[in-house]
Amino acid sequence: MDFTLNKTDPKSNARAGEITTDHGKIQTPIFMPVGTVGSVKTIHQRELKEDIESQIILGNTYHLFLRPGLDIIKQAGGLQKFIGWNKPMLTDSGGYQVYSLSNQRKITEEGVTFKSHIDGTRHFFSPENVTLIQRTIGADIIMAFDECTPYPCDYDYAKKSMHMTHRWLKRCLDEFQRSEPVYDYNQALFPIVQGSTYEDLRKQSAEEIASHEAEGNAIGGLSVGEPAEEMYKMTELVCDILPKEKPRYLMGVGTPANILEGIERGVDMFDCVMPTRNARHGLLFTWDGIINIKNEKWKNDYTPVDPAGTTYVDHDYSKAYLRHLMKTKEYLGAQIASVHNIGFYLNLVKTAREKIMSGEYSEWKNKVVKNLENRL
Ligand code: GUN
Repeated sequence: MDFTLNKTDPKSNARAGEITTDHGKIQTPIFMPVGTVGSVKTIHQRELKEDIESQIILGNTYHLFLRPGLDIIKQAGGLQKFIGWNKPMLTDSGGYQVYSLSNQRKITEEGVTFKSHIDGTRHFFSPENVTLIQRTIGADIIMAFDECTPYPCDYDYAKKSMHMTHRWLKRCLDEFQRSEPVYDYNQALFPIVQGSTYEDLRKQSAEEIASHEAEGNAIGGLSVGEPAEEMYKMTELVCDILPKEKPRYLMGVGTPANILEGIERGVDMFDCVMPTRNARHGLLFTWDGIINIKNEKWKNDYTPVDPAGTTYVDHDYSKAYLRHLMKTKEYLGAQIASVHNIGFYLNLVKTAREKIMSGEYSEWKNKVVKNLENRL
């Protein structure tokens, strides 16, 4: 993997860059649609590629390990071949899902024992086996096994957990170095900064993570319920310490405004279930704010879904029709809304990149960010 910086904003820490993987290039800042089980919910790979121009999508180790399981993915020749996506992919390590989804998990120094949320079967994740599982799944970028602390989190727990995440990182890196890629392309392993909302812990964690000189670095444990200002403060502090010449990934973030604020502080990569999950509930993101398409207000609105939208669904369908589909719980409603929202997120980061390249990021961000959280 390689990362080139094309431009840094003179008035902020925003950067435009390019990541090169064996499955192609990614222009940053980028948003990565979440394809938990090997599908970005309701969206075809062809739509992702051709209509939305997604450059990278994400999969989850926790889910893919449970279903379909490693044998099937390996026999298919890796995740990309299995799902028909010949572009870059990233897998999260399970260091978040195992805490949020599984029943009865037990964390020890060795790893995490947990029960599947699907059938209650018991499994064990360790830094070593999660690294090997991600080798077999075969994403271009794989993540270290960490503990994502909840919010709020008391100082002593956050500190102990952070140190364990650092020890787990060493074990992940050792296993990564000892093992070979399973397929004929390279993989990069990103470590994850933790430390909850404590400045001294975040600083210590960022220094420890930076010392490993990995090919990219991630910031975890944010967007877990803390006020947005806390998230921005931690992001800023951590970005100041993480190396400038490597991509920075803010995990699980966030709203369109969160993403623009993250970019301003030096983040290059984002992922979040929000655009797809909210789409299924009829919430549409636009430059003017958020539309709840199920509202009575749109019943007779025959204007396009989003006149400023960049995908075909924005112009082919009306608000009144999309409202009807959502009210009648038609699958097509969720599909149209998801294509719209992912299209919006990708257009948001693409526009951000253009503004960084032309040297007007901060002015532009200050102008557009005000509208993004309006309720229409
Ligand atoms: N996704 C969102 N936050 C996190 C985190 O802290 N760790 C991991 N592994 N994944 C995440």
